[in-house]
Amino acid sequence: MKEYRILVAIHMEESQLREIAAVDPRLRVNTVAHEFSALTGRAPLGLRAPDEADLLDRTTAETRLAPLLQEVEILYTAWVLPDLLQRSPKLRWVHLFPHGVDYIRGDILEKDVIVTTGQGAHAAVLAEHVMTLVLMLAKQAPRFMRQQGECQWKRFYVIELSRSTLGLVGFGSIGKRVAQYAKSFGMRVIATRRTFTEESPLEIDELVPRDRLEYLLKESDFVVLALPLTSATRNLIGEKELRMMKPSAFLINISRGGLVDEPALIRALQEKQLAGAGLDVFQVEPLPAESPLWHMDGVIITPHVGPLSPYLVENANRLFMENLRRYITGNPLLNVFDRVRGY
Ligand SMILES: NC(=O)c1ccc[n+]([C@@H]2O[C@H](COP(=O)([O-])OP(=O)(O)OC[C@H]3O[C@@H](n4cnc5c(N)ncnc54)[C@H](OP(=O)(O)O)[C@@H]3O)[C@@H](O)[C@H]2O)c1
Repeated sequence: MKEYRILVAIHMEESQLREIAAVDPRLRVNTVAHEFSALTGRAPLGLRAPDEADLLDRTTAETRLAPLLQEVEILYTAWVLPDLLQRSPKLRWVHLFPHGVDYIRGDILEKDVIVTTGQGAHAAVLAEHVMTLVLMLAKQAPRFMRQQGECQWKRFYVIELSRSTLGLVGFGSIGKRVAQYAKSFGMRVIATRRTFTEESPLEIDELVPRDRLEYLLKESDFVVLALPLTSATRNLIGEKELRMMKPSAFLINISRGGLVDEPALIRALQEKQLAGAGLDVFQVEPLPAESPLWHMDGVIITPHVGPLSPYLVENANRLFMENLRRYITGNPLLNVFDRVRGY
């Protein structure tokens, strides 16, 4: 009977590992979260931060991993080793925990191994985060909190969402959820995506082709970036694009810092070319203490927490297990990374 050797490099509860193993009796599951962490220098993504005692030295990690990598067919991970395929001659499929693959370096992106992503697994919680930023900016939440701290009773006007337009750059798993929530607030929603169809999807008011980004930027009170970082989208929002936005508008970025020319954004905010920004992601993370963004009125910073909820792993595992069933039964996998389009 054929066995499927799986390595899980995500930190999770024993019960969750058992749930994965229970997908099929032929699965042989090993957990290697700490070994991957020791070799990649990244914290094992998952339920909890590692205890100091959990952290392995490289030599021990290498010794434990080597025989497992020799046999592995399926890897479920957030980070990869740059020479993973060289070390794993039987590897056929890598399922990546995150939605985006932009930070993945190494041979798996170029060579003939199936790569799937966590795209969609955290769309709901990320869309909630977008709407939190939209509401906090629209209603000037930081100003209320400051006033409360000083026991000040000062009234001021706030933005009415039902009279506002939200522009989505990217209309995938997160963008579609944001559209749904924004529509329930009565907002007008415009979107753009890489591929364009004449007919606008039902959930939004208008879908425009990519070359009409200017129109979207000029029309929107809230511009939301919900697209991957690829060679085509790096610095998509630069000085020129920021100038196209209304002085009363806000930029929301929960995708990747590299989508925005950050020095240009800082200048635009300082010169009041736009009213503010809600940012979960940055060009350098953690955002350096000397960044002027920390101290700007109208800027809300969250430390790359978009998908973090107690269901982080459960949401991701559900997708992985669905793909696992498909892999075993020879059905097409979900979210296969497309090497040409870059996401
Ligand atoms: N803050 C966080 O922790 C966090 C967590 C999860 C994800 N993210 C980021 O969010 C991104 C989006 O996630 P998702 O799940 O919504 O991805 P998705 O479902 O793959 O959707 C991506 C959308 O971007 C569009 N797009 C791609 N290239 C474009 C371009 N050049 N111009 C305009 N639109 C373009 C795609 O167009 P088509 O529809 O035509 O393909 C699609 O609509 C991820 O790639 C990741 O970087 C961040």
